[in-house]
Amino acid sequence: MIILHMDSSMAGEASISRQLSSQVVDRLTTLQPQAQVIYRDLVANPLAHLTRAILPSSHPIAPPVDSLQGEDLAARAASDEVLQEFLRADAIVIGVPMYNLTIPSQLRAWIDRVIVPGTTLGYSAEGPVGMIKDKRAILAISQGGAYSHPQASHREFVQSYMTSVLNLIGLDEVEVVLAEGLSISPEIRSEAIDAARAKVEALA
Ligand SMILES: Cc1cc2nc3c(=O)[nH]c(=O)nc-3n(C[C@H](O)[C@H](O)[C@H](O)COP(=O)(O)O)c2cc1C
Repeated sequence: MIILHMDSSMAGEASISRQLSSQVVDRLTTLQPQAQVIYRDLVANPLAHLTRAILPSSHPIAPPVDSLQGEDLAARAASDEVLQEFLRADAIVIGVPMYNLTIPSQLRAWIDRVIVPGTTLGYSAEGPVGMIKDKRAILAISQGGAYSHPQASHREFVQSYMTSVLNLIGLDEVEVVLAEGLSISPEIRSEAIDAARAKVEALA
């Protein structure tokens, strides 16, 4: 079993999403001691903003690799590596902080490498069809506000977006560990983190 573990917070060791994603991986490896973990820090090693030249090679509109040079060639290789790494994984665990009502742009750059028509996403008369099956996905989300409260739910974009993206390519059962309200008060922060940690320990 291969677990692909990724983080996207810029807060380093203080990051709650990093702490939770790491705890998720610890939990999974306790349950599956044979698992191999591949770690990708999307902040320490950021992917470039997407351009046509650096789309993964299997993307229908990617120009041939032998037409590229210099930085584009290296960035194309990175895109191909990211896509293959995702395809090989049996489980993905992603630490996702909320920044400015959305996800970090470094994580968005990763998403741009794994939504690839013909490789991860097909189309039918009824609409898009996800091509990825049998891959577990767990999100460790941290956010300053509490968007599960009805008065703030119109600003809930992180969990719904990440879940939709992964559903789109076929990961139907996305599991979420959520620590929210972290900026509201020390008490709410502490309770939210404890609840999220307890949820991680209950992962099967
Ligand atoms: C640049 C920046 C933007 C943020 N924007 C939001 C926001 O729009 N909504 C929110 O609820 N929290 C926001 N926060 C608070 C973070 O979501 C919160 O601190 C969370 O714990 C970040 O995850 P981390 O601890 O893994 O870094 C922001 C924090 C930073 C640093």
